[in-house]
Amino acid sequence: MYVWVNQELVERDRANVDLEDRGYQFGDGVYEVIRMYHGNFFMLQEHLDRLQYSLNEVGIPFNVKEHQVENKLKEIMKKNYIRDGAVYLQITRGAAPRNHGFPEHPEPVFTAYPLPVTRPHQEQLNGIRMTLVEDLRWLRCDIKSLNLLWNVIAKQKAKERGCFETLFYRNENHVTEGSSSNFFGVKNGVLITHPANSFILNGITRQAVLNICKEKQIPCEEKVMSLNDLKELDEAFITSTTAEVLPVKAIDDIRIGDGSVGPITRRIQKLFFERT
Ligand code: PDD
Repeated sequence: MYVWVNQELVERDRANVDLEDRGYQFGDGVYEVIRMYHGNFFMLQEHLDRLQYSLNEVGIPFNVKEHQVENKLKEIMKKNYIRDGAVYLQITRGAAPRNHGFPEHPEPVFTAYPLPVTRPHQEQLNGIRMTLVEDLRWLRCDIKSLNLLWNVIAKQKAKERGCFETLFYRNENHVTEGSSSNFFGVKNGVLITHPANSFILNGITRQAVLNICKEKQIPCEEKVMSLNDLKELDEAFITSTTAEVLPVKAIDDIRIGDGSVGPITRRIQKLFFERT
């Protein structure tokens, strides 16, 4: 497999990253995962905009346009003969002698390589189970940063509890999102999802679903749900680049609706699929 390390397209086992890269030592970097369908990147501009936003928010001096990230991403997929899959890219503040403060002259390090992804057919068809975990992440979840420690711990808890995904909550009145996905509920025909603020990552798939709602005039509200609200939902689903739209059957011992996949979720899945 070929990978990008800065300006070099090299075979994976020839790729070198410095031991003192700040991404490696401090998680001092940001990333994106972008889906490719039939040789086209899905919502590439939105991903690149979010990447630039993350870079700006953490003060990594990297101009996405200037560095022609788009061309690099296209080239990496071509070079690896991939037309359906995803690309992982990250930009760190680069290597410098270990010191918490930013280096005076940072040289950001860009890496990108293809991720093999396939549609989770079974889960898309039959739905998943989620488990509640307290959201102990920092308060800038809008930045797609490399600091994913609580996300990975939470995903492991889900796995150990026989669930596909975690549902985070800050307190009993504030459900946020999944460990690597956004959460939607459906109540009386209205979609409900957390507002795009610093408590969640504004997912690109989430944005796609909101666009679908606007186009098809499906009512949708961006508001915070409580743990009690979850018990009243008729339907629920999660969204992410790799999972797309996955119906939720149950959250711990809360059964969603009658436990089968509801008509609005199916409709959103279908409309999303048509865009890919
Ligand atoms: N995760 N929320 C969190 C915390 C996420 O990590 C992700 C994506 C999402 C959904 O965002 P999007 O629709 O843009 O993929 C929401 C990616 C896929 C990952 O870390 O692998």
